Amino acid sequence: MGAMERFSFLLVVMVLSITQSHADDQNVDWWSETVPYEMGMQKMTKLHFYLHENITGDYPTAVKIAEAPGANISATGFGELYMMDNPLTEGPDPNSRLVGRAQGLYGSSEMNELSLIMGVSLVFTGNNKFNGSTINVFTGNPITHKEREFAIVGGTGYFRHAHGFISAKTYRRRGKNAIVEYDCTIVHYYSAFNNISVIKV
Ligand SMILES: *[C@@H]1O[C@H](CO)[C@@H](O)[C@H](O)[C@H]1NC(C)=O
Ligand SMILES: *[C@@H]1O[C@H](CO)[C@@H](O)[C@H](O)[C@H]1NC(C)=O
Ligand SMILES: *[C@@H]1O[C@H](CO)[C@@H](O)[C@H](O)[C@H]1NC(C)=O
Repeated sequence: MGAMERFSFLLVVMVLSITQSHADDQNVDWWSETVPYEMGMQKMTKLHFYLHENITGDYPTAVKIAEAPGANISATGFGELYMMDNPLTEGPDPNSRLVGRAQGLYGSSEMNELSLIMGVSLVFTGNNKFNGSTINVFTGNPITHKEREFAIVGGTGYFRHAHGFISAKTYRRRGKNAIVEYDCTIVHYYSAFNNISVIKV
């Protein structure tokens, strides 16, 4: 066999074996071929709102759900875990327009400084455009710093494939309760998924 024939022979063997492996998989329907995909133009949306956390009130919006042995004698509460469903409003006044809720977990994650690790879904309801869409935050939160930066790691609906960051500032703290200003810069790919979306812009 010359080089060319050997090459064609190999090609035929490869095609046959691919066809064969497909035949073996013919009852498998939980996957599709991986294909090249163009994401299209990114979009950027900025959101600004205030988060209200009320731990000590009659209707707490964040509750302790677990605690490591010894967390109660740690100066930083290291090992405490909380669940939150905190309202997000347009202005710092808790009675201003509700734009969404911050739902998720945070825990005290540092032994030497008061700092949290947060995994939170920001669920928007404030207008028709963003209704039901979320941005997902997984981030450290050193709450004693006046200004913090949070990482946006994903999104759904209008904010599919989101990434970006949040500049967070404590607006007011009263004991354990706090109002935090959120300034979000969200980069997302909404238009690339128009064809498979249930949400219309
Ligand atoms: C927090 O709880 C206090 C005491 O129950 C209440 O007066 C206050 O309105 C609550 N704040 C929010 C934002 O719910
Ligand atoms: C801390 O919690 C442990 C149980 O995990 C309990 O036995 C102990 O009494 C608590 N200590 C204080 C100071 O509350
Ligand atoms: C958001 O969606 C819910 C459920 O579909 C609906 O009840 C509500 O009126 C919508 N709100 C806005 C502001 O569009």
